[in-house]
Amino acid sequence: MLAIIGGTGLTRLSNLAVAHREVVRTPFGEPSAALVLGKLAGHDTMFLARHGHGHTIPPHRVNYRANLWALKQAGATAILAVASVGAIRGAKPGGLVLPHQIIDYTWGRQQTFFDGNGAQVVHADFTHPYDDGLRAVCLAAAVDAKIALADGGIYAAVNGPRLETAAEIDRMERDGATLVGMTGMPEAGLAREIGMPYASVCVVVNHAAGRGDSAERISLEGIARVLETGMDRVRTLIEHAIARIGRAAP
Ligand code: HPA
Repeated sequence: MLAIIGGTGLTRLSNLAVAHREVVRTPFGEPSAALVLGKLAGHDTMFLARHGHGHTIPPHRVNYRANLWALKQAGATAILAVASVGAIRGAKPGGLVLPHQIIDYTWGRQQTFFDGNGAQVVHADFTHPYDDGLRAVCLAAAVDAKIALADGGIYAAVNGPRLETAAEIDRMERDGATLVGMTGMPEAGLAREIGMPYASVCVVVNHAAGRGDSAERISLEGIARVLETGMDRVRTLIEHAIARIGRAAP
């Protein structure tokens, strides 16, 4: 069953016909919210609001381990994560991007399930952080839905919750990053550690600090405006992705 993790602007999936909610306890503490289970495009789907239903959990306080564990325990077999991002290069506000790589600048987060405690040391391969098959489904779904989805981007994961300085964004651009967001890690890494195929659809909601119309400051009102229409397109994209997955494995 596909699980959707919704971020800022997507605290509920309005096109999900909700059957029930499930409160899952995990060895890592409480997930961000109860899991919402139901049907989307006629197929079983699970939804989790990353920042809680009331959007009260900031990116650095999200219990990523509990979230991933809970989804797996409830029967998720793949995760499509939705995130809002700033554009460093290439993309523009309003665009949707399917990143293919990650650079992790976060710190101080619980970032692994393999945390010692006497167990064998495990190093998960993370060369290609996103699942190729799930990315292909998203790209095909975008064609089905006639929604523009840019194929590829390098996601810089930052701690937040403050936005970046222009110099920090310059450094990330020199590193090769094209998008910046606050929740992509450790989420993607943890999904890999538990063997869960994972891809992320990113909604570009602003030019990153010092870029384009964010040259002087980042307009939070501008972000709110772009977020709403962007997430409407994401809901449609998700519906088509689930229909495709459902057709492939009825
Ligand atoms: N920086 C970090 N995270 C973000 C941004 C940004 O500019 N926009 C949306 N999430």
